[in-house]
Amino acid sequence: MIKRLLCIGAGYVGGPTMAVIAQHCPDVEVVVADINHDRVAAWQSGRPPIFEPGLEEVVRRSLGRNLRFTGDVEHEIGEAEMIFVSVNTPTKTFGQGAGRAADLQYWEKTARSILHHARRPVIVVEKSTLPVRTAEAMERIFKNRRQGQRFEVLSNPEFLAEGTAITDLESPDRVLIGGAETPAGQAAIDELVDIYARWVPRERILTANVWSAELSKLAANAFLAQRVSSINAISAICEQTGADILSVATAIGTDRRIGSQFLRAGVGFGGSCFQKDILNLVYLCEQHGLPEVARYWEAVVTLNQHQKERFVRRMIRVMFNTLAGKRIALFGFAFKANTGDTRESPAIQICQELLAEQAHVCITDPQALEGARQVFSASTDRVAFESDPYKAADGAHAVALLTDWAEYRALDYRRIYAAMERPAFLFDGRNQLDPEELYQIGFNVYAIGRPDRTSL
Ligand code: NAD
Ligand code: UGA
Repeated sequence: MIKRLLCIGAGYVGGPTMAVIAQHCPDVEVVVADINHDRVAAWQSGRPPIFEPGLEEVVRRSLGRNLRFTGDVEHEIGEAEMIFVSVNTPTKTFGQGAGRAADLQYWEKTARSILHHARRPVIVVEKSTLPVRTAEAMERIFKNRRQGQRFEVLSNPEFLAEGTAITDLESPDRVLIGGAETPAGQAAIDELVDIYARWVPRERILTANVWSAELSKLAANAFLAQRVSSINAISAICEQTGADILSVATAIGTDRRIGSQFLRAGVGFGGSCFQKDILNLVYLCEQHGLPEVARYWEAVVTLNQHQKERFVRRMIRVMFNTLAGKRIALFGFAFKANTGDTRESPAIQICQELLAEQAHVCITDPQALEGARQVFSASTDRVAFESDPYKAADGAHAVALLTDWAEYRALDYRRIYAAMERPAFLFDGRNQLDPEELYQIGFNVYAIGRPDRTSL
């Protein structure tokens, strides 16, 4: 049985995943190491550097018992029996494959560091989302091992979603473990199965070969993102024809073969992974001589881009073809509710396009204001940041709701309307509000994939 486990990378995946493992395996020492010392200090103080419902409680339960965070990656590698690699794998921005392929520099540095500092047989677990056959590359790096060193590489992709990370980890639909089809590979798989089996029913722990596990992760994200782009494509037709996307989504989703989840039309998907992983898949297809398959998946990203542009175009059109000098309040900047994460948030592109139209933008968000500041504060004086949504909307010509925070459903829109310029516009980019109620208050209401309600 594994007694000492290390995770390299204390981010959105590494931190929560290890906190949950530590909680369920009190007899296993769980160490999370990261080169970002501020992040390490925040975790170690019991106040996680990321906002995630329920996370702080889970971390505090094990901190100081069998969970700790450290900046000393190299030393911890020497002590570990199992090492999860959960470093970031962003899209490459330079050289060959720029804009598509995964940037594997952080991952490769980690592999080399493991090779240099491991002092005992180690099971290395890929937790980061990686292109298919990365584990093979890792194994090749490990071929240069010194005497006494032994490495077995597993793929254990993570399927948690931000905002629900703790419930996803506590009760996953499945845990997927890929390993080599050899006795040593099987033994390593068994070690990892034993850890998850402490709280995950055995029938939900799936095993596969390494490549199948790696590809399944990319494919799962591609399928999820594809559903969002599909419903968003239909929302565009709704806006042109007077059909209502909520009725259409309900009609589609009640077919059990299709299912009702992930059919919420909106301003497009964001987050650090959907776009990155699809582009990764596209690159993989191109590398393997499958251009038609590559174009098929690429269209999911193209449509997502189009959805954001379409949203701003509609704003410009209905606001008399000019936004110059107008004040627009953005309700929400995080890429989805219940997270402070702004990576690839649709709000970023929408805000940029509004600024290009010379609008004045006031951003509000319960958790992501700091993230918004990092993106925009230096670039222009036409962006303001305000934690109170009522103040953000004060004197505004329009409110654009961009994140599905529950807080925005509970606001007093009469009060908001009273403080806005006339005519007052409300663009519901997440279909969170009742358009009829808002229309009765006096707003001109434009919701995604729903008929316009223009009162002027
Ligand atoms: P993140 O950027 O939040 O965290 C990565 C961490 O790795 C950072 O804190 C960084 O400092 C650290 N790091 C980088 N190089 C290092 C090194 N050499 N040594 C030690 N630490 C190092 O990223 P994330 O969102 O946690 O994602 C990590 C991986 O998990 C990615 O591959 C991502 O695709 C995948 N994933 C993410 C999610 C999600 O919801 N965010 C879900 C499933 C899978
Ligand atoms: C997603 C997947 O759901 C996770 O399974 C996966 O592990 C993770 O990516 C990853 O690999 O990083 P996440 O991006 O955290 O999780 O959040 P989602 O709930 O999937 O939402 C992604 C985006 O799609 C958000 O911007 C969300 O607002 C949008 N979305 C989602 C819609 O617009 N409509 C929907 O019906 C669902």
